[in-house]
Amino acid sequence: MTDFPFAQERELFPILRHKVQLSSCSQSALSLPVAQAMAAYQDGWLRQGMDWSGWMAGVAQAKSEFARLIGADADEIAVMSSVSDIASSVVGALDFSTERARIVATALDFPSTGHVWLAQQRRGAQVHFVEEGAEGGIEEAALLAAIDERTRLVALSQVSYYGGHLIDVARVAERAREVGALLWVDAYQSAGTLPIDVRRDGIDMLASGAQKYLLGCPGIAFVYIRRGLAQTLQPLNTGWFGRVNPFAFDIRGLDWADGARRLDTGTPPMLNGCVAAAGLALLNRLDMVAVRDHLRALSEVALETVREQGLATASPLDPAHKGSNTAVCVADAAALEQRMAEAGYIVSARGGVIRVAPHFYNTADEVRDAIRTLASLARA
Ligand SMILES: Cc1ncc(COP(=O)(O)O)c(C=O)c1O
Repeated sequence: MTDFPFAQERELFPILRHKVQLSSCSQSALSLPVAQAMAAYQDGWLRQGMDWSGWMAGVAQAKSEFARLIGADADEIAVMSSVSDIASSVVGALDFSTERARIVATALDFPSTGHVWLAQQRRGAQVHFVEEGAEGGIEEAALLAAIDERTRLVALSQVSYYGGHLIDVARVAERAREVGALLWVDAYQSAGTLPIDVRRDGIDMLASGAQKYLLGCPGIAFVYIRRGLAQTLQPLNTGWFGRVNPFAFDIRGLDWADGARRLDTGTPPMLNGCVAAAGLALLNRLDMVAVRDHLRALSEVALETVREQGLATASPLDPAHKGSNTAVCVADAAALEQRMAEAGYIVSARGGVIRVAPHFYNTADEVRDAIRTLASLARA
């Protein structure tokens, strides 16, 4: 590929010299800066015994880097171990005892968040899933029509985990604002692949974990909460890091830290934070418009190769309406994922598809070769 824009950064991912890793919808490739952050944590622990302040600084840096990636400030970010934990904390702080008790989500969201919303039925929430339309994605008109004055929360994945369907969150934010509902965006499949600006798009809350396109490892997830909104939340799920001064150790005093920090709970995932900071710092060196454009070009290659090989896809056929992931329909996805790995291609199985999910460091040749190999293994 002659116009590959990230040749220099690609060198930071040693695995790409001998394998084709296309699994960023599940786990992205390990970069040298991230490996060094892991080693530094281990070294500090091994040699100094403890580096509490250094490790906490890693978590703070991760918050700042995540904030920078999405156009927010560091004090608008809280961390927990997973997006599911964050969703539970946030929704548990909302009131469902009035007429405004609806949660509008979509059938394409990751099931875990759907489960979190459903668990709120016990507190009076009414959950409405907008179903997929004839083309397989969520039709914007249907989604906007489902949001009305009864809606407390609109909750959706910007890019769906299965087929990579992309939703225009700014349009949804506009509608949510019109009727006085809050918007929660699950950006686990989008952050790190396209430009995000929470203020420009009017997003109230946006969450993502580090493991997928953020180049980190599992065990840490971030949430942006608009400053004015954060000040109104008193989450039932709390802990000492949600206090004004966590080190006051006042067992009788339940105060609330300013901003998103009040959503923090117990000791943060410090190793994961140091790792996430390194991955996010690498991403923040890149131009996110160039990353999005490159991934769109790779989507075009993926869709073309799917057609060339006579395969079917569960993804949108227009690269502008999808994220990085192209879902290829196959008979035995789990077995094929294994056989692809044996052939040197790391891809991700879910249900009836193999997800081919490149990141900025992947080339068109890698995507084409992977899908051709997948087709021949599927035929064999
Ligand atoms: C869009 C999306 N949201 C949430 C999750 C799950 O996040 P967690 O395991 O951090 O709760 C996933 C996992 O694949 C995902 O793709």
